[in-house]
Amino acid sequence: MITYKMIGHIYFNQTVPFEFLTWEIGYIFNPRYYGNGYATEASRRVLQYGFEELKAHRIIAMCNPENASSCRLLERLLMRKEGQPIWHNAYQYAILADEWQRNNE
Ligand SMILES: CC(C)(COP(=O)(O)OP(=O)(O)OC[C@H]1O[C@@H](n2cnc3c(N)ncnc32)[C@H](O)[C@@H]1OP(=O)(O)O)[C@@H](O)C(=O)NCCC(=O)NCCS
Repeated sequence: MITYKMIGHIYFNQTVPFEFLTWEIGYIFNPRYYGNGYATEASRRVLQYGFEELKAHRIIAMCNPENASSCRLLERLLMRKEGQPIWHNAYQYAILADEWQRNNE
């Protein structure tokens, strides 16, 4: 029997058009490890990598409005809820490079 010990998975992909220097973050964690702050800590490091190494201008995330733990996670990362795109049921969150810098001074 194979035992999977993965704590979680983070998705981070540049969106098109590439000239906008925007990346999207997403995550799925193993329920066994929920409630410890691991997803927040890992996502924060990915944002840091995006802004400091990849020189991202903007990082976004989509979140189902019913997914309260995911919305709380994005708000802990100090991402702004920008609104709800009309074509599907999701909130869009975002953070800009200068906001990241101000939050981490
Ligand atoms: C979204 C998801 C990653 C959130 O998981 P999570 O366990 O709430 O997130 P974290 O690992 O960051 O843990 C944060 C929680 O641990 C608590 N916590 C406990 N100890 C902590 C510590 N030392 N540091 C930080 N937080 C801690 C926090 O208070 C928070 O709980 P709260 O939201 O009830 O206040 C998880 O629900 C998931 O994988 N869901 C399925 C996939 C999914 O929905 N992805 C999003 C698609 S948009």
